[in-house]
Order: sequence, then structure tokens, then C-alpha cells
Amino acid sequence: MGPARIYVDSRRTITPVGGALDRNLFGSFLEQLGRAIYEGIYDPGSSLSDANGLRKDVMEEVRGAGVPMIRYPGGNFVSGYNWLDGVGPKEDRPHVLDKAWNTINSNQFGTNEFMAWCRLVGTKPLMGLNLGTGTPEQAAALVEYCNVDRGTRWSDLRRKHGIADPYRVQHWCLGNEMDGPWQIGHMTANEYGLKAADAARQMRAVDPSLKLVACGSSGPGMPTYLEWDREVLEQSYEYVDGLSLHRYFGNTPDETGGDSAKYLALNLTMDRQIEETLAVCDLVRGRKRSAKKLWLSFDEWNVWYRARAGDAVNGHRQEAPHLLEEIYNLEDALLVGGLLNTLMRHADRVEIACLAQLVNVIAPIMTNGQGLFRQTIFYPYSWALQYARGSVLELLIESPSTYEVPGMGLVPHLDVVGISDADDAKTVLFFLNRDLSKAREVEVNWAGATANRLLASWVLTGDDLKAANGFDAPRKVAPRAAEKPSNASGRTRIELPPRSYSVFQWGA
Ligand code: AHR
Repeated sequence: MGPARIYVDSRRTITPVGGALDRNLFGSFLEQLGRAIYEGIYDPGSSLSDANGLRKDVMEEVRGAGVPMIRYPGGNFVSGYNWLDGVGPKEDRPHVLDKAWNTINSNQFGTNEFMAWCRLVGTKPLMGLNLGTGTPEQAAALVEYCNVDRGTRWSDLRRKHGIADPYRVQHWCLGNEMDGPWQIGHMTANEYGLKAADAARQMRAVDPSLKLVACGSSGPGMPTYLEWDREVLEQSYEYVDGLSLHRYFGNTPDETGGDSAKYLALNLTMDRQIEETLAVCDLVRGRKRSAKKLWLSFDEWNVWYRARAGDAVNGHRQEAPHLLEEIYNLEDALLVGGLLNTLMRHADRVEIACLAQLVNVIAPIMTNGQGLFRQTIFYPYSWALQYARGSVLELLIESPSTYEVPGMGLVPHLDVVGISDADDAKTVLFFLNRDLSKAREVEVNWAGATANRLLASWVLTGDDLKAANGFDAPRKVAPRAAEKPSNASGRTRIELPPRSYSVFQWGA
């Protein structure tokens, strides 16, 4: 069988020509959960921390990766959180029982500490609001605290807390997973839609420039999947800008029967989830005859299936317990690469996405008292952060090779996404080779842009799909230089190793 053929024409893009993908597509998430904040990014007792208790090594890692946006403070946590507990003099802040994760929260790290940390690492906040136990009035009060300059109750409180300049936070999530019976304050779609619309109206009265995200379904496995989204939007469409969706994957008996070939195909089910959710947004748009088109915020996505029950999700009323400390292996990283491909090829409608999460909790970065290590999933994520700039290309792909996945039909061995940056004439291709045993050849045919100079070529692969990194072996799974492509008659030939995720970048 011959090589897969890819036709790259830099004039054919899925994001408008010259219109780059939104970098918020590569956001992440820090929840007040386990050791994400405490011990993860904030550890005043540590010699690795600065004078404000912020872990310098973690800040360097996040800044270096260039994470554009970080969702905070939850997640399930936010639905029982009173933001007022986390502002003002630290000695006055209460120890609170977080009922979502059965954890004690000392509140030593709150909104102002998070904003300061964001500035230091060069990221923007995506603020989560409590629409579980919280009211629309409290949500609007937090907007006022964060965004109004002076002369109002909550902006003056911020000033009293020593912060003169408003943060002008643009992006806000109206609650979290309100469709889930596990969520504090869970309600029906109709009730939530009304509450979200009310919160949005009150928040916009404080700051009309906000970008607001309503809670969509927490996953396609929910019994109310899509119906929830429709009902919520029937109530709130005119008041919001985006709709959220969440998804966690696992190589589990239920999802894949432990079959790695099927596992690596699961990103295609994320494509489908995005397309189905957009269909509902556009259905409601049509019914309302609205001029506005919503975008999606895939504000929680990752692999998560090992540390998902028992003590891994129960803090036993401790501070900073070890929760959701999933250790990722090579196959997880390959799937994460595929999931990033899926997000990129929907960049025309997905404006925000957050790898859930960032530090210690289902995270690419793990810390202990002595330092940190990069999990396998760090690498595909960091490549997207580094190389995915510009317009997403509408590639013509002739990929003759497929395999049968029960319940999914024929799945291509290769999953590819291309991005072209007209400004600096760079083109990048990201490849997932799902073939577990064979290398796959690709022939790239260039039109409208030629690949003269190879600028970067990296591959993540290995013999053992279950290999993982740890403090004892931090680079067991790490990228290596990919085999250099060969050029002949204006075409480029690339060989992709079996079980691999790769990135190639060319300049004119
Ligand atoms: O990210 C972990 C949890 O997963 C979040 O708190 C919740 O929103 C989701 O169910």
C-alpha cells in the first residue's frame, strides 16, 4: 500500500483566511482541588517558593510553555465556593469544608493571589462562578470586585484589599457542570437556563464587555445530553456568548475494553461531540432567529480514569490531599495529541478549550517538595502551545489505510492537522499515527506554500505504550528528533513511526 497523500494549500483554511485560530484553544485549568493550588502553585513553606509563597519552578514551567488562559477556581469546587472567603487579610480568612471534594480549604489562596500569579506567568484568567449555592447577585459582585475601577461597594472593597487597578477579566463561566447530579446545587436545565440568564444580565450591567459561557452537557454519556443544552439555550441564548462542553477519556473496560487501538481512535468521538453540540446551538439560533452565532468552550478535557474513585476523590477533610493524581503513560499522550488535533480542526467554532488540569491534579506537571517532572501528556500539549499559530488548513487527505474499530467502523491510521501562519510564512503539521505496529509513510503535496526549510521536527513514541514518567525516571517518555523528511519534485516524504505523535514545522 502506498503512502498517505496530503495536499496542503495555504489559501484553503477553516478559520477565515488571515484569521488565526484563537490561542485560548490551548488553555488549561487550576481547581481548588487536591494539590493543584496548595503545594502545586502555592507553597509558602517551600524553599522553591518566592516571598509570596508562589512556586518559582512551577511558574517558570507554565510561563515557558506559554499557557494563554487558565480556568479557576473550579470545577465542582466552585459550586459551593464563597469568593468572599478568599479575599482580604489572610489571617481573617476562614477554614472551610469544601463539600465537593471533602477537603479543608484554608482560603490562603484566593482571587487576588490567582490574579497576581496569572500576571507573573503571563496568562489570562477564565473565571468560574458559583451558580450552585451562589446567587446571580454574588456573581455580579465578583465581577464588580474584579473589573470596576472605584466608587462602588465591591470595587472599593478590592481597593481596601490593596489592589488599586481593576483586573478587567473578560471571560467568565456561568457555573460548572450544572447538569450533573453530583454538582452542588444541581438543577433542571430550565431552572439553570433562567439562573444563567439572570446572572448574565446582572454581570453585564456591571461590565458590558464580558464574554460569558453557559454550562452545556458534561459529556455525551449524560442522559440529558443535548436536550440539556437545548433547554439551557432556549432560556439564555441572547445573554451568553459561548456554551461549555466537557469530556474525559479512558482506556477502560467500558469504553475500549482495554484495546489500545480503539483508545487511540477516541478523539474522533470528541469531533462528533463538538459537531453535535454545535448543531444544537445552531438549532436554537434558528428558532430564535438570532443574528448571533455561539462559540464553544471545551473547558475541561483530558484523559482521566485511574484516579477517579475512592480515596483518589475523597479528601478526608485534609488540606491539600493527594487527589486525582493520575499518572499518564505513552498511549495517553498519543490520545492527547489526537484530542488536540480534534480541537484544532474545529477552531472555527471552538474558541476556548482547557486541558484539565495543569498541576498535580490530572495534570501535565507534577510537583513534590524537591521539584517537578513533566508527565507524558505535557509534550503534545507543549507542541500545540509552541507551534500552533495561524490559520487551520483545510487539508485534502488521501489516507488509504484504515482499521476496523468495533462500534466506530473504519478508522484512519493517520490523523493529521495543518496550520499555516501567513505573517511569518510558517506551516506546521501534527500527526497521530494510530498504527500500533507499522510505520506509516506520508507524502505532502504543497500548493500555495512550499516547504523550503524544515524548522522543527519532533516525535513522541516508544516500544511500551504503558511507559510513564515519574520522579525516579522523569524522561522515560520524552520527545526525540523525528527522522528528517525528504524532498523530491516539490513533494515531501515523511515516515511516521508506529504508535507516535509528531510535529513538523517548515518555513518558506
Ligand atoms: O476536573 C475534575 C472535575 O471533573 C471537575 O471538578 C469537574 O468539573 C469535572 O467533573
